[in-house]
Amino acid sequence: MQGKTVIITGATSGIGEVAAVHLAEQGARIVFTARDKARADDTMAKLHKANPAADHAVHMADLSTLAEMKRVGGELAREPRIDVLVNNAGALFNKRQETVDGLEMTFALNHMAYFVITNLLLGKLKAGGRIVTVASNAHRGARLDFDDLQSRRSYVGFPVYSRSKLCNILFNRELARRIAGSGVTANALHPGFVATRFGDNSGGLMRTVLKVAKPIGAISPEEGAQTIIYLASSPQAADVSGVYFYECKPATPTAEARNDEDAKRLWEISAQIADLG
Ligand SMILES: NC(=O)c1ccc[n+]([C@@H]2O[C@H](COP(=O)([O-])OP(=O)(O)OC[C@H]3O[C@@H](n4cnc5c(N)ncnc54)[C@H](OP(=O)(O)O)[C@@H]3O)[C@@H](O)[C@H]2O)c1
Repeated sequence: MQGKTVIITGATSGIGEVAAVHLAEQGARIVFTARDKARADDTMAKLHKANPAADHAVHMADLSTLAEMKRVGGELAREPRIDVLVNNAGALFNKRQETVDGLEMTFALNHMAYFVITNLLLGKLKAGGRIVTVASNAHRGARLDFDDLQSRRSYVGFPVYSRSKLCNILFNRELARRIAGSGVTANALHPGFVATRFGDNSGGLMRTVLKVAKPIGAISPEEGAQTIIYLASSPQAADVSGVYFYECKPATPTAEARNDEDAKRLWEISAQIADLG
């Protein structure tokens, strides 16, 4: 990864931070997004320790509003070179919240931020570039309701989160189709059930369930970051695109996540919402 630039959203915690540090150790320059100054400084200190020679950079942004996604995407697009983009920042919300754009918060942060930032950086990724999208096996059992993508009719935190992760896999599928032959690859992944800060701020029952389940069943962030690192850096993954990975191996997502019509429809709706011109 010597001389390469890796952009990671949400590298201030969990698997994003571990992946950033490991890729820096391999020689990469890391450019990451953060929304909390103290956590950004903390990550930056770890990156400088991992690779002191590289000019790592941070861009502050709350990725739940379209204006911020576009602003930071525009800033990132001015980087002189981009080799890898890791779409990672995400969360689960127990209660329905609407962003200033009138979007449901989970859909905005977990799906639209991936969509907007990827589209703004696509032209900057040269042949050999890689887009890595952190999805989840939580998509299993989820089904998209195109008449209610903003979950206005009913809202339960985990199913809404699951749908956003289904969106990630459909997004990756349509993205890979659109960029086929360009020399840039796009893959999605499930990191496993990982003991990160994920869910800590979600509130409600889910927070309690995760708090109890993490010490029993979850893997470490170190283990959870491995598939991100693999897809971002391994020569073995260089020519693979449009695939869903788990434990550094191809996995089969659900039939809903393999539906090309839904992938295309979701892309078109997202493009209308994003209004990138
Ligand atoms: N943990 C699991 O078991 C698991 C399983 C499957 C998939 N995933 C996926 O893995 C990804 C990373 O999650 P994690 O487990 O590493 O969780 P985490 O420790 O909570 O890290 C999430 C990252 O996203 C950032 N973020 C959250 N909301 C944001 C916002 N509004 N604007 C900008 N950045 C924001 C966080 O920033 P702050 O530091 O400011 O909070 C943090 O850097 C997510 O996409 C998640 O869906 C996790």
